[in-house]
Amino acid sequence: MTSMSHAHRHLDDTARNILRRNDRGGYTVPRPGLYPFQWNWDSAFVALGFATFDMDRAWQELETLLSGQWADGMIPHILFHRDDEGYFPGPDVWASGTRPRSSGITQPPVAATVVRELWQRDGADPAHPRMRALYPKLLASHRWFHRYRDPLHNGLVMAVHNWETGRDNSAEWDAALARVSARDVRPFQRRDTSHVDIAFRPTQAEYERYVALIEFGRARGWDPVRVAAESPFRVVDVGMTMIMLRANRDLLALARALDDQQVVQELRTRIALSEQGCDWLWNEDLGVHCSRDLVDGRPAALVTSASFLGFFAGIGSPAQHARLLERLAALADSVPYLVPSLAPGSRTYDPLRYWRGPVWLVMNALIARGLDEAAETALANRIRGDSRALVERSGFWEHFSPETGQGCGGDQFSWTAAMWLNDLTSAST
Ligand code: DGY
Repeated sequence: MTSMSHAHRHLDDTARNILRRNDRGGYTVPRPGLYPFQWNWDSAFVALGFATFDMDRAWQELETLLSGQWADGMIPHILFHRDDEGYFPGPDVWASGTRPRSSGITQPPVAATVVRELWQRDGADPAHPRMRALYPKLLASHRWFHRYRDPLHNGLVMAVHNWETGRDNSAEWDAALARVSARDVRPFQRRDTSHVDIAFRPTQAEYERYVALIEFGRARGWDPVRVAAESPFRVVDVGMTMIMLRANRDLLALARALDDQQVVQELRTRIALSEQGCDWLWNEDLGVHCSRDLVDGRPAALVTSASFLGFFAGIGSPAQHARLLERLAALADSVPYLVPSLAPGSRTYDPLRYWRGPVWLVMNALIARGLDEAAETALANRIRGDSRALVERSGFWEHFSPETGQGCGGDQFSWTAAMWLNDLTSAST
């Protein structure tokens, strides 16, 4: 046995132990202390990690997540199954009035993609009871997005809080957040900075606006129509849009397996709409897809890791693909570790601060998968190789500097461990 495979065996054990340790019985916390509840897209990714050694537990992660679905179909971004004073903003701040208690916003819809994956690993039997039980819930959540979060009726996804995007403090949201007044926000105590270095986290001024947006939604009883129409923060997120498009394709595969013809038709129409709509996000100057503000219509005009999700979504002309690959190759020349969450050289780029530069392994996994599917194997391998090198160098951190590989944010992080097990260990390649 080579020393590399020894090292990998050790990392595999560590990754499994992280998932076991962060398991709270049916759901996994992203990182004790910093994120002590169930997070929506974290859980979906974590299920892929469990699936490498405990399929039952993988399904359960999603079942617990879907148990918190709202009556209107929304899957909240946080489920507060238990109390924990160590996090702000907790359930009383959100005051959503739901059981289990939850936040009032959602997160990128990766669940259908993961359910399809688990179902395929289990043999893709159309009679699979756990897939069949989750299918109507996934459909309800997709319909929620289509009904409430597509104000232009062009198949794109609008976010009404930067936390919905999962890429919380991306520079893409700066202009939209600048319109959010934090004047009436009552004093609060942040908890995140008592768990990790403040240099890794969003600033205080940013946090006050995040809280102002919660107060805005809460004052409207989290009515999805009013929040969507009136929120000062309304952006089309390139990340959520691409992930939604992909999730619709994966849900379509399930609908076909179940011979649910009406839904097959509905999703095909939806997918075609989104495929066309994505052109509105294309930025010809930069040669990538970018988020766009909905209040003033302006493009964010920033190259982020989400700009490269078009392959995963299955969209783009050959000319657009060529530009995307060119841009990604340029990034590959500029940093040792792909894919930075914001391109170096951009205004406010910071290799250590949350979504303003660091590499996130979940984004890398989605981008690499899309590139594989487009037969762009060399770049896919480079991204997977960089992800692997980051974990080998630093461990299972929340995110990593694209320049030095330094681990940042929380350590022993669930979704980083899950991505290692699912995508990077020698056993999975
Ligand atoms: C946080 O608390 O920073 C979370 O990312 C919100 O989802």
